[in-house]
Formats: sequence, C-alpha cells, structure tokens
Amino acid sequence: MYVFKTVKDLQNYVANNKREGKTVGFTPTMGALHEGHMSLLKVSKDNADLSVFSIFVNPTQFNDEEDLKKYPRPIIADIELLEENGCDALFLPSVEEVYPNDPQPLNLDLGALDKVMEGEFRPGHFAGVAQVVKRLLDIVLPDQLFMGQKDFQQFTIIQTMINQLEIPTELVVCPIMRTKSGLAMSSRNVRLSEKGRKEATLLSKTLKAAKTKIDSSTPDKVEKWAMKELSAPGFEPEYFTIVDGHTLQPIKEFSDTDYVVACLAVWLEGVRLIDNEILKS
Ligand code: PAF
Repeated sequence: MYVFKTVKDLQNYVANNKREGKTVGFTPTMGALHEGHMSLLKVSKDNADLSVFSIFVNPTQFNDEEDLKKYPRPIIADIELLEENGCDALFLPSVEEVYPNDPQPLNLDLGALDKVMEGEFRPGHFAGVAQVVKRLLDIVLPDQLFMGQKDFQQFTIIQTMINQLEIPTELVVCPIMRTKSGLAMSSRNVRLSEKGRKEATLLSKTLKAAKTKIDSSTPDKVEKWAMKELSAPGFEPEYFTIVDGHTLQPIKEFSDTDYVVACLAVWLEGVRLIDNEILKS
C-alpha cells in the first residue's frame, strides 16, 4: 500500500491510474479503524479499480477541544489493517496540507438538515464535515465515495452537498457493522471499558424494540419510551428522535413518510455514542 502525505504526491498517483482508465473509490476516515471501515474497503474494492483511504482527524468538525484531544490515533495499527485488507493507497495529510489557508466555510444551503439531532448538540460539526469532505473530494477526485449508514445525518448532508455543488462523485452508503451483541462499531468504542461495551448493547436493543412498536404507537410515544429506556444507570441520553429519512425532520405519525429512521445519541463512561435504525423504508 502506498502512503502519501502530500496532496501533490497523492494527486500524481491518482492521475497516473486514471490515465490507465482505472476508476477510483475513496473512503475518508479519521482513523482508529475497525471492521466497520474494513466493510467499506470491501465494498470499495468490489466497485472500483483503485481503493484510496484517508486518515485525517479534522479539527474543524470538533466543537469540543477535549473530544479532539482524546480522539484515538493508533496510526501503525491502522496502516497494518489497511494493508492486510488490500487497500491501494492511504492519504495521511497534516492539518497544513489539508488547510494551507484558513479553512473557508462552504456556501451550502443545508436548510434544516443540520439543525436537528447531531446539529443541535454539536453546533458547527456538519459545516466542518462538509468542508473537509469537499476538500478531500477536490484532492482525490474519486468516482465513488464510500460512507457508513451509522452516521445517518452525515451521509444525508454529504449527499445534499454533492447534489448542490454538482460534484461528479457517486455516494455509496454501506450498512452499519455491529458486534455479535449488536453494538454498532465505532472508533470511540475503544474508550469504553469491557463492562461499558456490554452495557452499550442497550442502544441497539432499544432501536430494535422501537421498530416493533411502529404499528401500534406514535413517534412521540416511542421517543418518550426510548428516552426512558436509555436513562438506565450510567447512561445519559441526548436524543432519541424519529425522523423522515429524506428530510431528517421529526414526524407526527409513522404514516407521514415512506422512510422512517430512529436516530440516537447517548453518553456512557464519558463517551458519546450514536446509532440508528431504519424503522420503515
Ligand atoms: O465520519 C468520519 O469519520 C468523519 O466525519 C469524516 C467523514 C471522515 C470527515 O472527517
């Protein structure tokens, strides 16, 4: 696997491959890679001739200095994992390489998409995500971009950005990878104790149980029930919201839309965990 630290070197590599007619699949990450990321690599390898990953802990999407500082950075293990799984190239840039000038905000109209859920609890987060993904897409110029369903609001916003800015890249969304017990795989899980990882299965259990209630209840009632479930000792739920999967806006009745998604964020052992489940599609 090639590891490139500069924009110039990565661009030369991609351009040479494109000249040979190869298609490029790109997966942006912040590292601390796990099986979830490897499932994105697998889809990339199945779809594109060349699979490029990036590892960049993007400072502009953190609204909490501590969270940025504590973000895990096991770079040697990450490189080994990518190599073992057949990634072709890794882009590993510095902050100066990604933002040679002061990061400029993007001129995007996200409407209400970034006002709810993560947007409400992490102000400025999605402006930072859109900014870095746009910059990385400008550098890599991939045919396909691979993202996980776990960050439901994130991929919805990136799809909106791609549409609005007419970026010629196809977004491919890959399903959530879970441990046997149901915990959604996340880079943040390494910060949980073993006990915490076991307890955290409450999140997926609550989502699964919520799915069984949609024929006999209302979104509001299910949300209230779920918030109570997620208030178990040690847990601090931020939100459990049932939304229209197209607009990310809360719904009044399950029949309001053909695409219903439940999204949640919960604190456990000082770690913020998110998860979601498509209740109807
Ligand atoms: O989901 C992530 O890991 C990040 O938000 C992303 C898309 C790599 C942008 O920094």
